[in-house]
Amino acid sequence: MNDSAPDAAERTTAILFVCLGNICRSPLAEGIFRAVAAERGLDLHLDSAGVGAWHVGSPPDPRAVATARGFGIDISGQRARRICADDLRRFDLIFGMDRSNVAALEKLAPPEALPRIHLFLEYATGRPEEVPDPYYGRDDGFNAVYRMLREASEMLAAKLSERAGSALSSGHASSTT
Ligand code: 4NP
Repeated sequence: MNDSAPDAAERTTAILFVCLGNICRSPLAEGIFRAVAAERGLDLHLDSAGVGAWHVGSPPDPRAVATARGFGIDISGQRARRICADDLRRFDLIFGMDRSNVAALEKLAPPEALPRIHLFLEYATGRPEEVPDPYYGRDDGFNAVYRMLREASEMLAAKLSERAGSALSSGHASSTT
């Protein structure tokens, strides 16, 4: 949410989490995945954005901040921003939290970006499920969202670790070997 992704030639894998407002689900996804990736020593560029502009510049919803804090994750420093066309060019993996997010991303994307856009839970877990919008619901909706995102993050991190391992063992990770 804070840094811009560097250009392709000089960067690590870049992953963008997208929801509607960028104050509930995608900031949680970014924070949770950042923590899980750090545990595994994965070097990634992570960010999140919203389809809508209502909350641009705002911190995450206090319920999202409190939920993350309950699990030892601080997302209070994030600030909402709106998805832009350049995001579709720069990020290797672009995850919508629900199908309407994916549809909005696909509408904005040039054809070459379409293979990099996915429904997050489907890509991570293999189950074609959405992360429900907790904004208008009860506080326990945020705990349910946290659990879904945590499981998906663990599975995605395992997948990416496996890929990094096989790239290393087949010599693709270094241009000097
Ligand atoms: P999010 O939740 O997409 O998970 O950030 C929402 C936040 C705000 C609104 C809708 C959803 N809103 O309509 O303002």
